[in-house]
Amino acid sequence: MSFEITIEKTQNSRINQFDPQNIGFGKIFTDHMFLANWNGSEWTNARIEPYGPLNLSPATSAIHYGQSIFEGMKAFADKKTGKPLLFRPRENWKRLNRSAERMVMPVVPEDLFMDGLKALIQLDAEWVPQTEGGSLYIRPFMFATDDFIGVKPSENYIFAIFCCPVGPYYTKALKIKVEEEFSRAAPGGVGFTKCAGNYGAAMYPTMRAQQEGYDQVLWTDPLTHTLVEETGTTNLFAVFHNEVITPKLGNTLLAGITRDSVIQGLRELGHSVIERELSVDELKERLEEGELKEIFITGTAATLIRIQGFGHAGEYFEVLDQGSTAISDGIKQWLDAIRHGEAEDVFSWNESV
Ligand code: COI
Repeated sequence: MSFEITIEKTQNSRINQFDPQNIGFGKIFTDHMFLANWNGSEWTNARIEPYGPLNLSPATSAIHYGQSIFEGMKAFADKKTGKPLLFRPRENWKRLNRSAERMVMPVVPEDLFMDGLKALIQLDAEWVPQTEGGSLYIRPFMFATDDFIGVKPSENYIFAIFCCPVGPYYTKALKIKVEEEFSRAAPGGVGFTKCAGNYGAAMYPTMRAQQEGYDQVLWTDPLTHTLVEETGTTNLFAVFHNEVITPKLGNTLLAGITRDSVIQGLRELGHSVIERELSVDELKERLEEGELKEIFITGTAATLIRIQGFGHAGEYFEVLDQGSTAISDGIKQWLDAIRHGEAEDVFSWNESV
């Protein structure tokens, strides 16, 4: 199936107000957005419009009952041509649909997702930062739009995409608090989805961690609070000498696309990467024995950033000063070079628009 996309270009581009040297994260939006409507049986009215507010009823179902899912992906400027390169966009499309199925929302056909995405990025290509560390963050999302009070899956939905030119989400190594009281996700729940509620529910524990001087929460398994899962915004890797461990996926963890890229990249670079259970005790014991060299975290927004240290049961454990195997630096450079078209795209991850 192919979707016809109608395009209404803005008459008032804001591109001249955009300073690529001073971007920040998530505050500046490009000139256009993509929208399509699910009417209960099919996707209709695929269109690009000037970026702006949506007109919604106060009874909009997503606001009350939480059928709201999203994705985060990026486009990078090709260092040679300056043109946008989309990084593994079809993985985001697949994950959006895994979230949609769990939340009883309609799936988005691949061509609606990709054609809408590419048409939007083509139109707003000038907004892709050419600056060091800059990229275009892309936010596909879907939410229930029935104007109705009552708990049932909505019949109508909006699927939309908008974009923000961004700099780094985190600008320094993070201190994370191992969470032992609150839980992000339970077996059989929605932890593997990117539903909006997962992030709203994390805000109170994160605020508490920040009040204690930490930047983020490190979630643990909900039953014993002894096994490491992910942070509030990323997946996590621990480097022991030359062996890298990352918590294995299950239905309580988000299957990060950066996580998967880092696993494949580390193996390509000759490192051993194991996906398995990782306990807080193992982190502490092996840190004490001098075996834990680095902890780093990965996500689309965060990219790859090191962990300064972690707090557990009222004690702080410094990791950054343990020296480094530089594995995180190596994999970050490897990934950045591919994303900017400077190195051979060995896994065919980039898509031009
Ligand atoms: C992303 O990494 O894209 C996310 O959605 C997480 C959020 C911190 C922005």
